[in-house]
Order: sequence, then C-alpha cells, then structure tokens
Amino acid sequence: MTGKAHLTRRQFEKAVLTAGVAAALPGWLRASDELPADPTPYLNVTGADSLRAHATARKLLYGAAVNPALLDLEAITAGAPTNGYTQLIQSQAAIVVAENAMKWAGLRPTFDTFDFTLADRLMRFAQLAGQQVRGHNLCWHEGLPSWFKNSVTKDNARQLLVQHIQAVGGRYRGQIHSWDVVNEAVDPKDSRPDGLRNSPWLQLAGPDYIELAFHTAAQADPQAKLTYNDYGIELDTPEQSVKRGQVLLLVRRLKARGVPIHALGVQSHLQADGPQPGAGLVTLIRECAKLGLEVYVTEMDVNTHSLPGGPEAQDAAVAQVYRNYLGMVLAEPNVPVALTWGISSAHTWLNGSQEPWAKRPDGARQRPLPFDDELKPTPAFLAIRAAIDAARVSATQPAQPGAAPGDLYKPFAVPGSPNPQPAPRGPGVR
Ligand code: G3I
Repeated sequence: MTGKAHLTRRQFEKAVLTAGVAAALPGWLRASDELPADPTPYLNVTGADSLRAHATARKLLYGAAVNPALLDLEAITAGAPTNGYTQLIQSQAAIVVAENAMKWAGLRPTFDTFDFTLADRLMRFAQLAGQQVRGHNLCWHEGLPSWFKNSVTKDNARQLLVQHIQAVGGRYRGQIHSWDVVNEAVDPKDSRPDGLRNSPWLQLAGPDYIELAFHTAAQADPQAKLTYNDYGIELDTPEQSVKRGQVLLLVRRLKARGVPIHALGVQSHLQADGPQPGAGLVTLIRECAKLGLEVYVTEMDVNTHSLPGGPEAQDAAVAQVYRNYLGMVLAEPNVPVALTWGISSAHTWLNGSQEPWAKRPDGARQRPLPFDDELKPTPAFLAIRAAIDAARVSATQPAQPGAAPGDLYKPFAVPGSPNPQPAPRGPGVR
C-alpha cells in the first residue's frame, strides 16, 4: 500500500473495527480526519505499546526466535545505538529462543568439540535485555551435524545423547525458562504402534530415548521446564487429529511413568488458507491441563505461499489467523507463553526456503510475522496485541493430582487413531 492513498477517518475506523483492533489505535490516529490507507506502519510499537509490555501486563510471555549473530551485543555493551533488528527484539520480546544456534548442528562442529559462541551470545544478550530464554533443542532428527550420520552408532548413541544434554543443559543450568528436550518425535506415517517417528535416535538409541533425554535434562537443569515440542497437531483434519492423539498419548505415557515433563510445545506453523485450528487443539490443551502440563505456542508464523492476491491480501489473511488462533489458545489458562518463529519477514525461514510449500508462484516475499522487511509493524502486530489484551490472565498451573492409572490410557477420542493403548512394556521392549 502506498503512503499516498488516503481514507477518511470514518472509512478507516470502519476498516479497523472490522479487523477488531480499534482499541489498539493511538490517540493521534483517532484525532486525525485524513489518515493513511494503512496506518499500521506508523503506529508506535515500543515501550508500553509493545507486544512485550502488553503481554507482561497480562502475565503472559511473548517472544521470538532469533539469530544471535544479528544481535548487536557490542553496541549494547558500549552504550551505542543498536541496529533495527536488535531494537525490535529488545523492545518486543520478553522471551527469546535461538532459531538454530542451540541445535546439535549449531553447537557441535565435530564429534568431540563444542562451539558455544552463538549460544553464549544469545544468553548474554537476553541477560542484558532482561529476557527469558527457551532452549531449542536437545534432541531432534533434523538440525544434526554432517558428522552425525557416519559417527553415531547403536553402540554410542545413548552415551552421546546423555553427554550432549549434560554438557548443554549443564552449561546454562538455572538460566533457561524451558528446554525443548525432544522435538518432533511423533509421526503416525511411520506406522509404529507407539506413534513414534522412526528417527535415527529411535533406531540407534531405542524407543525409550525420549525418557532418557528428559531424565538427563532434569538432572542437568532442574529449574528448566522440560518440554516436548511438535508440529502438525493444530488442525482438525484427519491427519493432524491422528497425530495430535499420538502426541497426547505420548505425554500421558511419559507422565504415567514418572518422566519429568512440564510442558507441551505446539509449534503453530499455520497456513493462511485452508483448514484452520479449532476444537481438537483446545481439547488437547485441556487434556494437558489435566496432566498438570503447560502448553506453549513455540514457533508461530503464517504461511501464505498458496494465498492469491497481493501484500494487502496476505497481510489481512495473516492477521486474521493470528487473531483467531491466539484468541483461541490464550483463552486457556495453561497457555502462558507464545513465541513467533522470527520477528520480521526480513529474516523468516519462509523467505529463505526454495521449497514449494514456501515459495509463492508470483515470486512475492511472504509476510508471516508481526513486522515486515523494513521492520515496520504489519496488521499481524495489531492482531497479536489485541489477542494478548483479550487473553485470560494466566498463572502457572499447579500440578494437578494425577489421574487414576486406568484413566491415563483411556483412548483419546480421535477418530482413526491407530494407537489408543500404550506401547507394551516388558523384556526386550525398551
Ligand atoms: O549456517 C549455514 C550456512 O553456513 C550454510 O552456508 C548454509 C547452506 O545451506 O546453511 C546454513 O545453515 C542453515 C540454517 O538453517 C541457517 O540458515 C541450514 O542449512 C538449514 O537447514 C537451517 O534451517 C533451519 C531448520 O530449522 C533446520 O535446522 C531453519 O533456519 C529453521 O527455521 C528451522 O526451524 C525449525 C525448528 O527448529 C523446528 N520446527 C520447525 C522449524 C521450521 O522448519
């Protein structure tokens, strides 16, 4: 939208009311008779107007995934002006997570060496900015270093996993809000009765690698909330309903076996067009509450690769998804944390990917986040802020008394779930 197109004040207020964000308008906009057609880029978004401040006022944490290499730590320590990216992360995020720097590939250049440079940089930045930090992640089948394939075997996998978690979790002991201990371990497409993905970790370390990882993480950093994180569990489509059921069965099994798990991470990589999240996810969140688990929105963004129309159409659709989704999940009292996967379209993974599910046919860049390529707020910013303002004030959930053992394995009411029962245990089954 060009800065030259103008609406009358009435036209603008009608448009904003339709978008449900009237309360977010600053005084100077309401006072003006002639307004830019899209006033969003001109909003004040810092200080008390930031996502960080609005979330904090509701006892929520809003945050974003960051690239520590782009954070201008040197300028902060020198008391000098920082770059726009750094200012945005400082002003908007109360919690940060490394998009890549704390993965195995980010930390382990060789089999027996670690490089903590970028991870330490993030920790130092967060300390200076008064932010909490999520750790992502300690065990995943992706984000592995190139040496992994030829060096990790059935003989050393368990030991390597334990050593990794001890080294990384231990280094940041007491400084991490929550660790994604295990990431994306469920995949019903692999047709295992326990729903687990047939990943290198499962093949090399055995199906109880998940329990091993959580127990080790609890010892390495007893204060961190230990999280199981996954994607593709948000929609009510048959495929995602089955996966959601398998994820719930997994966390129920872990709780029943006394594994230290405190939260479920719902990644929330959503699409602007097609089916939208609904009742199934709310049910999952409430089932987690019964287990005493918090639920975090860990990686939200909105993909418009197949949405027709120009930037305005993208912006409107993306904002609508944020409004509906965060409005729905932040109404649940055990959802105290929401992060977007990046802060602006300038650095989103969706604009770095050549995959067909990321590339738009018109070649336009995606706008999946609250700020755009020029680090100006998008309509999604207002949608996120309005959803935060409307959220139920959340408090850390007290652990619920455990369900009766018979209830723990009650089939989750998901049509088509191939595994309503826990995986068998016994000799030969790890
Ligand atoms: O840093 C290297 C660079 O040195 C090299 O020249 C270049 C060549 O390909 O690769 C660079 O690393 C890439 C890295 O992103 C940093 O840009 C990796 O190839 C690439 O695989 C990596 O992708 C990341 C992906 O996870 C895999 O780790 C994405 O940025 C990141 O957004 C994505 O994040 C995941 C979450 O961790 C888990 N949930 C899904 C989410 C999106 O896929």
